[in-house]
Amino acid sequence: MKPVEIAKGIYDVGVIDWNIRDFHGYSTHLGTSYNAFLVVDEKVTLIDTVKKEFTDQLIHNIATIIDPKRIDYVISNHTEMDHSGGLPRLMHKIGEDKPLYCSKLGVKNLARHFPQSWNYHAVATGDELSLGSRTLTFMETKMVHWPDSMFTYLKEDKILFSSDGFGQHYAGMENFDDQIGDAIMPHAKKYFANILLLYAPLILKLINKVIEFDLEIKMICPDHGIIWRKDPLKIINAYVEWSQQKPLPKAVVVYDTMWHSTEKLAHAIAAGIHTQGVEVHPMHLRKFHRSDIMTEVLDAGAVVVGSPTLNNGLFPTISDFLTYMKGLKPQNKLGMAFGSYGWSGEAVKMVQQALEAMKFEIIAPGIRIQYVPDQSDIDGCVQLGAKIRQALKG
Ligand code: FEO
Repeated sequence: MKPVEIAKGIYDVGVIDWNIRDFHGYSTHLGTSYNAFLVVDEKVTLIDTVKKEFTDQLIHNIATIIDPKRIDYVISNHTEMDHSGGLPRLMHKIGEDKPLYCSKLGVKNLARHFPQSWNYHAVATGDELSLGSRTLTFMETKMVHWPDSMFTYLKEDKILFSSDGFGQHYAGMENFDDQIGDAIMPHAKKYFANILLLYAPLILKLINKVIEFDLEIKMICPDHGIIWRKDPLKIINAYVEWSQQKPLPKAVVVYDTMWHSTEKLAHAIAAGIHTQGVEVHPMHLRKFHRSDIMTEVLDAGAVVVGSPTLNNGLFPTISDFLTYMKGLKPQNKLGMAFGSYGWSGEAVKMVQQALEAMKFEIIAPGIRIQYVPDQSDIDGCVQLGAKIRQALKG
């Protein structure tokens, strides 16, 4: 990908990773991008780098605009290696003594990743750096997505370089929101649901801080995916909505199955839930990726989880999903467990306990069906689905 001039003298010099399909457990079925930004002013400044294996391309991209050695300052908004992996080669190329600006925790965390004694400058919220005709202002954004994370705001151009915030794992030829339209929103939602959901309370505070700072934002440049220039408020408002986690009349029926019995229960429960105005998604854990299921969980009012009992315990994919969902701390959910079993049947109780530990409101005791459900079992599941539907409709 060639660099793109996103505003006068400001370039996205990042790269597209078309082929990544698994980003530490998140399914990136279209790939992703690692955006990095070059600001050419009296002081030439690079904001973030890329994943290590793409460093040559980053340096090449910069070289099409300016000799990389002319970079005066490097900003690291976030230590995670998809944005810092290119630092060693980049710093070696431009001069190891060039100032490297990051948060105080950025200094600590970068030092845990890289042995080089770079010329670190720790910055805090409100600190400014003059580039000549332009000024950068820093804002610490702890836990969006790591403790070291920060945003960098380019005052004169009103551009917010937001690191992981407002990003999407999306690889495409489009660079801006106006080029892709609403088709980008599911990717932004998936990113939020799987990377940022557990920090939702902090995100609400952060957005209030941005409002307090009275920052005028013309463009938001995340480190992944497209840049928001037509309507930056659209993604800010979406973040507020997603962070509030107001439950919609929507249910996700997550399950796995060995001999289709738990599957039959799942479909019967889903049929009972479904009606006009109530969405329901039956999702088999070996057909849907956990990260796609979490995207549906984000705004669902109910999450119903079905597991067969295997070797006196949970089916392994259910354990995986419950662990994953627990870590992301979804709130305001109704929950229920179900499942088939042969002779011991512990799984349903274990699912219910896991949902209770996540503070889900248990709408009905878990349903356990031995071996294969008969018609009365199926009817019972449809009725329970109807009960969930009623609760979702309030
Ligand atoms: Fe895109 Fe938290 O790294």
